[in-house]
Amino acid sequence: MAEHIPVRGPREVDKLRRAGAAAARILMDLMPAVRPGMTTGELDELAGELFKREKCGNAFLGYAGYPGNVCISVNEEVIHGIGGPRVIRDGDVVSLDVGTIVEGWYGDNAMTVPVGNVSAEVKKLLAVTEEALFRAVGEARQGNLLEDVCGAVEDFVRPYGYGIVRDYVGHGVGRHLHEDPQVPNYRSRHLSRLRLKRGMILAIEPMVNLGSFRVKVLDDEWTVVTEDRLPSAHFEHTVSVSSHGGDILTERPRIATPELLGIEPL
Ligand code: MF3
Ligand code: CO
Repeated sequence: MAEHIPVRGPREVDKLRRAGAAAARILMDLMPAVRPGMTTGELDELAGELFKREKCGNAFLGYAGYPGNVCISVNEEVIHGIGGPRVIRDGDVVSLDVGTIVEGWYGDNAMTVPVGNVSAEVKKLLAVTEEALFRAVGEARQGNLLEDVCGAVEDFVRPYGYGIVRDYVGHGVGRHLHEDPQVPNYRSRHLSRLRLKRGMILAIEPMVNLGSFRVKVLDDEWTVVTEDRLPSAHFEHTVSVSSHGGDILTERPRIATPELLGIEPL
């Protein structure tokens, strides 16, 4: 299995970092634009302009027929939401997922943005999901098992009682948006015995639900929603496996501090 996973050298990692940086800039410029009263369609239009400014390719638009510039998923929408007439309201949480292509190399990152007065309960869901991402990134160290990365999310999230989405997983990134290996957010006997090597590229992306882990796909054949319609959070970075953990190629500021959770920062 390990021999099928590409290992990227420093020059290739530099290329991936350029794609990742573009994806992070677009995400960071979308974040403050998320306002109550606007539609998700307007947000997707802005995303289109940001891609033009970056002069980079769009990894999602047209991927398997996906019709949006970015994925915009509100509240009970987990991932793959398509911009349209839905109006964003005060108290909503909006997950944004941005994928770029620069000179044939891919970058992929996501975050859930709180809009105005979000309940303490949902803020905590966001903080836990973002922290779970960083726990997993910390385990993306050469010599570790992939299982250590996946297990870090599960171990951190489980005590909070949230539902960890199982039907969708993280993935390798490189010359394609999705490469091997799959990166689940839970321990999995058959998937995770892979020994990590320096230069393997992973998109780590915990999707965590306030209620049940169960999800379903809407009739638009894209939007994934929680079965119980409770809110969901999604945070994603593309990282390169290194000697000290995952080197984040989609670097951006955190939104939720570990202090919010009353836990020690890593
Ligand atoms: N970050 C998501 C993923 O890794 C986004 C894919 S959306 C799609 O699968 F539109 F491109 F399918
Ligand atoms: Co991804």
